[in-house]
Formats: sequence, C-alpha cells, structure tokens
Amino acid sequence: MGRLHFFAVFSAAVLFQFPAVASSGNGSHGNALPAPVTDADYIDNGAPDPAKVELGAQLFFDKILSGNLNISCATCHHPFAGTGDGLSLPVGEGGRGLGVTRDTGVGDDAVHERVPRNAPALFNLGAREFNRLFHDGRVQLNAIFPNGIDSPAGFDLPDGLDGPLAVQAMFPVTSATEMAGQPGENSIADAAAADNLAGSNGVWAQLAERLQGIDGYVGQFVTIFDDVNTADDIRFTHAANAIAAFEAANWRADNSPFDRFLRGERAAMSLSAKAGMRIFYSPRKGNCASCHGGVFQTDHSFRAIAVPQVGPGKGDGEFDYEDFGRERVTGNPMDRYRFRVPSLRNVAQTAPYGHSGAFNTLDAMLRHHFDPVASLYAYDIRQAVMPSRPDLDSRDDRAISDPTVRASIAAANELSPVSLSEREIGDLVDFLHALTDPAMLDMRDDVPGSLPSGMVLAD
Ligand code: HEC
Ligand code: HEC
Repeated sequence: MGRLHFFAVFSAAVLFQFPAVASSGNGSHGNALPAPVTDADYIDNGAPDPAKVELGAQLFFDKILSGNLNISCATCHHPFAGTGDGLSLPVGEGGRGLGVTRDTGVGDDAVHERVPRNAPALFNLGAREFNRLFHDGRVQLNAIFPNGIDSPAGFDLPDGLDGPLAVQAMFPVTSATEMAGQPGENSIADAAAADNLAGSNGVWAQLAERLQGIDGYVGQFVTIFDDVNTADDIRFTHAANAIAAFEAANWRADNSPFDRFLRGERAAMSLSAKAGMRIFYSPRKGNCASCHGGVFQTDHSFRAIAVPQVGPGKGDGEFDYEDFGRERVTGNPMDRYRFRVPSLRNVAQTAPYGHSGAFNTLDAMLRHHFDPVASLYAYDIRQAVMPSRPDLDSRDDRAISDPTVRASIAAANELSPVSLSEREIGDLVDFLHALTDPAMLDMRDDVPGSLPSGMVLAD
C-alpha cells in the first residue's frame, strides 16, 4: 500500500518535472522530492543569540576543555576539513597536527588507541529533525530522561540543556581517547575513568571550574545566561548550550543548488544533476530516497549496508574487535551492524565515508552501495586514511579479515544491489555535488581570532 502510494506520487512528480511535494508534518520521506527547507525547520528559527554563538565558537576551538590541554572539538570537526578531520578514524588526545597531517604523538603522550568511528560532519544539526545523534543514535529523544533526552549518562545527565545537540557536547570531554586523557595523567581523566561525570568533583564540575577562572569567559557567560550572575554559577551545561548554538548557526547549510531548485529556481541545477536527482528519487533506478529521503537526505533510520569494519571496533563480539552499531543502544540483535543513515548535505566535502571511514572517495562509497556484499568481500584497507603506527595498524583489519565476522556483516545487509550505467553514475555524482552549499566551501571565518584562555589555535 505505502509503496504504491509513493510510486503514484513519484510518477506525478516526474510528469510535472518534480514540483516539490508538500511536507506532511516533520518532512516528507520516501521517494518524493522534499519540500524546501525553511527557517521553521531549525531551532530558534535558525537565528540563535549571536553572543551565545560567539562564545560557542571560542569554546569549540579551545583546548581548555581537554584534560591534558592538547585537543579541542575543532581538532576532529574542523572548518578546514568540512567539519570533520579528513581521516577514516580520528586521532584523539595525544596526537599532533590537524587533518590528514595529524600524527599519533610521541613518548608517554602518544595516543593509546584509535577512536573507533569516523568523525561525522556537523551540517544542519540545528534542524529540529536531527534528534538522534551519533552513528548508533545513543543520544536520542526519550521523555523519561532529564531534558527529555536519553544519552550515555542516563539519569545523571544534568537539566538545563537546550536539546540533543547540547546534550551531545557533554560527552567528548568525558572520553579518555577523545579529550579527557588516560587515568593518572590529569584529574579530569581520573574522574572520567571512575565514571564520575556529574559528581561534585566529576568531569563536568572540573571543566566548569576551569572556565570560572578565566575572566574573558566569565563576562560572556554572565551576559548571555540569565541564571549566571557570578563565576560560581557557570556550569558545563552552559558551555554545551553555547557550543550547540555555534554548531547550529555556523553550519546551517541550506542554500545548495538543490535547495534553490526546490525553491523554484529551475536553472540552479545542471541538466546532469537533474538527471541524477531523478535517479536518486526513482524507486526503479537508484532507490536512494527509500533511506536518504526527507529534507536533508536522511530518514534518520538505522540500516545495515555491509560497510567494512575498519579499526579497533567498539569492543563487541567474541574478540572485542567488532562494532555492533545500533544494537549497542537497543540491545536488539536485529539491530546488529545497523548504522544511522547519514544526511548527504555537503557530502562531496566530507570524505572518508561510512561509520568507520572505510571508503576514501565518494565514488568508492557509491560503488559499495551498488553491490554491498561483493564490495565488502573485495574491500582493500589500503584506501583507509590514518597515520600509520605498527601496533595500531595491526588492529585495524582484524574484523574485516575474520571470515566469520565478514560473513555476519554480509548476512545482515539490507541494501539491494542497484544496476546503473556509467553515465547514470556520473549524473548521480553530479546530483550529490549539487547538495553542496557554496557558503560551506570557505569556512575560514568560523575560526576565532583568539581565545580568552590564551590557548593556541594551531591544531
Ligand atoms: C578525537 C576526535 C573528536 C573530538 C575531539 C570531538 N569529536 Fe565529535 N565526534 C567524533 C566522532 C568519532 C563522532 C562519532 C562517534 C560515534 O558515533 O560513536 C563524533 C560525533 C559528534 C557529533 C554527532 C554528529 C551526528 O551527526 O550524530 C557532534 C555534534 C559532535 N561530535 C560534536 C563535537 C563537539 C561539540 C566536540 C567538543 C566538545 C567534539 N565533537 C569533539 C570525534 C570527535
Ligand atoms: C537501505 C538504505 C540505504 C539506501 C537505499 C541507500 N543508502 Fe546510502 N547509506 C545508508 C547507510 C546506513 C549509510 C551509512 C553506513 C555506515 O555508516 O556504515 C549510507 C551512507 C551513504 C553515503 C556516505 C555518507 C557519509 O557521510 O558517510 C553516501 C554518499 C550514500 N549513502 C549515498 C547513497 C546513494 C547515492 C544511494 C542510492 C544509490 C544510497 N545511498 C542508497 C543507507 C542507504
């Protein structure tokens, strides 16, 4: 029934050269063209308080939020790398440098392990419909938890967070590998290792204390937040709210040729991009919109598409080197190897692709989609982009070279093969490029000139 209905809508859309189909509530999904994005799709109607955004920018780039003062959010989500890091898997605290130049560090400070998942791009996360974050959706709406949001902190999550994006910002600082450091190295890392996030001497209280001691920050917090009158009132939740405001404001990306086309500028897209759009939205051709439907090319569901498991994994499976994806959140074995369907906005800028960064080019990621199981078996890990270190390298291919694991990932695949001509593939790629908002091609202005903490901005 549902499928027939979509098909009817779709055929009509083809006949009338794709008039935008009106959104039904939270965005139209499935194989119909979405309605154009509007301000109303975003929290605060897309216009958060500029002072809060400015504070958030500073915090996002400030290593003061890391245990060992050596890494910021921007290290893994940099404007110079499409709000990611250009690597298959990030190099967390202890590494040196930015993007693909980053190394694994030296001596006692060197990284202990790779971060097990690809750093996603942060575009449009201020839109209300992005209410499940992380590749497995472990930050998601759920009325029984504080702020109405489930997260790794469960009931320990403090109140006062603006939404899922602010909730997310509470967590990188608690991860040993990402920002906190190893136990014994600093007191924040010790608290993180003891799972003391929200306690009186927990990770969040210690970070708030650091901010309370920096005059250039205190003044801003007092001005922006009604419930902050003195330095002592600053909580890490205020910082998280400011960071979320910055991410939402600066990385709203809804002025691509595709957006302009949907708003009625028929000439905004090239003929080949329009041909690619038809393939993308056609159930008989690309069938992409059956998962990448909706305003931002995602229906926010979790699907298994047999992307190779590169890197150390999340500690799942018999030998700990697997990543069970969505099952880690739901506990349901049906969800094993399912990962979140990502938005495809600015996707041409966000290589490498997949939850483990397995594919280094858009072309390779697409060809994986066309025959997922064959691609899984043919996978060559040499395309993964990460700084080499023998002990880390030796753990990167354990899952993909384990025949049992590979067979399980293949068996879980839900993506049917697709057959397209080379010309159609070229058109599809042109369509994906038409999802790039030109404002996101030059994001140098996102980098603050200096930081109240006096920390350097170089990596
Ligand atoms: C060491 C690299 C690293 C650092 C530092 C880092 N992140 Fe991330 N970020 C990641 C990775 C990897 C993921 C995906 C993790 C997962 O899905 O399990 C992620 C996910 C996210 C997401 C979710 C995006 C989505 O679409 O679901 C947001 C938002 C985000 N990070 C913001 C931040 C902020 C804010 C900070 C600083 C407080 C930060 N990150 C620090 C690597 C990093
Ligand atoms: C069955 C659902 C499904 C269909 C159909 C589908 N995809 Fe995907 N796609 C996914 C999932 C899930 C991922 C993420 C996989 C992962 O992280 O391991 C993904 C990832 C991607 C990525 C990489 C994005 C990134 O940031 O890493 C691109 C590009 C992409 N898909 C394009 C397409 C195109 C083009 C089509 C149509 C030919 C298509 N997809 C059809 C589910 C689907």
